[in-house]
Amino acid sequence: MNKELRQAVIAGNWKMNKTRPEAKALIEELKPVAEKAACGVVICVPFTNLETAVELTKGTNIKVGAENVHFEKSGAFTGEISADMLTEIGVEYVIIGHSERRQYFGETDETVNKRTKAALAAGLKPIVCVGELLCEREAGITEEVISRQIKLDFAGVSAEDIKKTIIAYEPVWAIGTGKTATAEQAEEVCAFIRGTLSKLYGQAVADTVTIQYGGSMNPKNAAELLAQSDVDGGLIGGASLKAADFGVLLEEASK
Ligand code: PGA
Repeated sequence: MNKELRQAVIAGNWKMNKTRPEAKALIEELKPVAEKAACGVVICVPFTNLETAVELTKGTNIKVGAENVHFEKSGAFTGEISADMLTEIGVEYVIIGHSERRQYFGETDETVNKRTKAALAAGLKPIVCVGELLCEREAGITEEVISRQIKLDFAGVSAEDIKKTIIAYEPVWAIGTGKTATAEQAEEVCAFIRGTLSKLYGQAVADTVTIQYGGSMNPKNAAELLAQSDVDGGLIGGASLKAADFGVLLEEASK
């Protein structure tokens, strides 16, 4: 077990939720809840809430992330946001390649790779999501799918940069469905991801990479999932919108 070599991080993924007043209220509730956490605490919020979140979390242990970033530095890309625009306002993390972006917005491993490199070049810490569809799990090709995603998403990413990257294993069938992977299933794939990283970067580097589980993690199932030796925290959707629930996950990840 090399868990002490890496930081457990609980990251909230607010998705398309919370107007600015609602975001303010939730962040104020989160501050005292997060205060004692021994793990990393990140909230990834909609673009319109980033500046508010950065302001309100100054001087606290809560870090702020975006939910996407474009790969070009600037230019004619209507509706997109660049990495420099994020760092300039104090954003430190960014989710890349979430399955909802892959499913509904045409995100591919190629664009995930480009976004990851652009984020790293700008000094952002990417939280890169990988995960299999239900039909892929049922066809017995989970490892093939994950291996392919890791190899393509991180093509050309250096060992130094992979150490700054968080990988979130999110089985697509478990996201927002209330169906969680069992602790064994989560551990199996997170360990497989670490093994794949080890082949690409060496074991010493792989041992330092934070690998989260995501998909219906909640106060009831968190303890068992987070106790797994290759699960280093979680990417949390639904439960990140309730301060009390998020607090329980922070406590569990701090153990
Ligand atoms: P969920 O979402 O916790 O609501 O399943 C997780 C995610 O999409 O990151």
